[in-house]
Amino acid sequence: MTIHVVIISGTVFGAAEDVAHHAAELLTDAGLQVTYNPRITHAELLALQPDALLSVTSTTGMGELPENLQPLFAQLRERPPQWHGLLGGVIGLGDACYGEDFCAGAEMMRELYEELGVVELQEILRLDASETVSPEQDAEPWLAEFAESLKAALVQ
Ligand SMILES: Cc1cc2nc3c(=O)[nH]c(=O)nc-3n(C[C@H](O)[C@H](O)[C@H](O)COP(=O)(O)O)c2cc1C
Repeated sequence: MTIHVVIISGTVFGAAEDVAHHAAELLTDAGLQVTYNPRITHAELLALQPDALLSVTSTTGMGELPENLQPLFAQLRERPPQWHGLLGGVIGLGDACYGEDFCAGAEMMRELYEELGVVELQEILRLDASETVSPEQDAEPWLAEFAESLKAALVQ
């Protein structure tokens, strides 16, 4: 059985997109089918009928989602897909110096998952820009676990 993972991303300066591209490579190497289009539309996303959704987003302003993810986020809320039980994961990029707004954009994605019934396979990964200069590499163990958990959950 092919497991189809769709990755969506939100970024201001490109770091989250780099992590998403790296995630696409690693998950593909792990034997999953991956679609990552940084500019995917609501209609395209639904048409893909994913088995799993991985969201990779930074946070901007004071705890806001990057502008390039806001339209898709709003549309998923306004026209919710039938995703109850869909498996998912969230990777947040942020900076702990923002205190309680640390990775708030990624937390908004988690709230959306909850609204839609998307089940987080494992705990959110928060990548702190004040701690790391290599978020792609830092995400590798989390991504390896995500791939294994997906296979365990979906391959009979
Ligand atoms: C203007 C500005 C506002 C930011 N606001 C937040 C914030 O509220 N919470 C947070 O965790 N990180 C915040 N950050 C940190 C970024 O999310 C972090 O640097 C991230 O790695 C950027 O990823 P990107 O290149 O994908 O946008 C902010 C950064 C900038 C420049």
